[in-house]
Amino acid sequence: MRYNFDKVIERANTNCVKYDLRKVVFGNPDVLPMWVADMDFETPDFAREAVMQRALHPVYGYHFKDEPYFKAIQGWLLRRHQWEVPLKWMSFVPGVVCGFNMAVLAFTKEGDEVIIQSPVYPPFHHAVSEHGRKLVYNRLKIGEKGYEMDFELLEQQTKTAKMLILCNPHNPVGRCWTREELQRLSDICLRNNVLVISDEIHCDLVLPGYKHTPYATLSEEVAQHCIVFHAASKTFNLAGLATSTAIIPNKAMRDEYVHYVEALEAHLGNIFGKVATQASMEQGDEWLGQLLDYVQGNIDYVADFLKNNLPKVKFFKPQATYMMWLDFNGYGLSEEELWRKMTQEAGLGFNRGSDFGQDGSGYFRINLACPRATVEEAMKRLLFFKQ
Ligand SMILES: Cc1ncc(COP(=O)(O)O)c(C=O)c1O
Repeated sequence: MRYNFDKVIERANTNCVKYDLRKVVFGNPDVLPMWVADMDFETPDFAREAVMQRALHPVYGYHFKDEPYFKAIQGWLLRRHQWEVPLKWMSFVPGVVCGFNMAVLAFTKEGDEVIIQSPVYPPFHHAVSEHGRKLVYNRLKIGEKGYEMDFELLEQQTKTAKMLILCNPHNPVGRCWTREELQRLSDICLRNNVLVISDEIHCDLVLPGYKHTPYATLSEEVAQHCIVFHAASKTFNLAGLATSTAIIPNKAMRDEYVHYVEALEAHLGNIFGKVATQASMEQGDEWLGQLLDYVQGNIDYVADFLKNNLPKVKFFKPQATYMMWLDFNGYGLSEEELWRKMTQEAGLGFNRGSDFGQDGSGYFRINLACPRATVEEAMKRLLFFKQ
């Protein structure tokens, strides 16, 4: 079956963050919205069908996640990432962000140092600062071929830090970390007894030619010192269903974490997320293959367009995620001025770079999980910067 990713779907007036909060976020209700990380594509037919079937039953009471649900996730991780995950390692969490916040609360104390690698997804910053922990920035470096980790600095920082929150693959810079890079990071963290929380929500969105390394597959010892988060929500456009998975190989840590989650009554979740996730993990391979080809086409289109028309905008092509991280510092404008021009004059709703950390100043993150027609319109509007 061929899926149609060219189809434009009207999302306005559906309580949709990306479209219906434009006036609030950008001060302009007419920006072309290419910000928050969900997709403008239809959620795939098998996931919608599963939700519709369940919705037909007239009672929407409490439910639990059964063995077929976790087996579907287990099968997916094995098929897609060659990762064998025993069922007992997995537990439900309502969201990856909620999940890593609970990990920070369960495994660190107030005042403890937690490392993040900026520029990085804003909730990484908040998960540390909002709970009275101390943020330590292991800033990524820009090398010839793209963003790299600063291992020398990490070596120093892990002497006192308790935890590192890893974005694997990385949002917004689009790096699919190699096994060697992750190995080096894990050596440093193990040696210094730093617990690694690996957010792998984008792992299924690794683009053609790249391969995701689940952090816990580096070695048995590494597996015993990490928590991995996975979800079908980015991959299959299910973010509104709030359903994700914590994977914890270490028994003592797992018991402590699950106890924490249950004490907050955060372990139940919703029935629609359950059936949509299960259907996607069981049936999603073909759809995902086509999605990734389409997204790669959008990325190539933008890359060519920028090279040919706006050479002052610098970027590295992403290796994973449907986002591009664009550097507008070549225009020599202040961040405020860039933001005003982008939102009020060009009419574009991209994410503001500094929301990902100071090192994102002058950058924008653009979401390319949308029909080609939307990408073409965005590039047309971006020609405003040619003046
Ligand atoms: C790295 C990363 N983690 C987590 C999330 C959100 O996860 P959830 O909706 O499950 O909380 C996002 C969404 O953009 C993300 O980019």
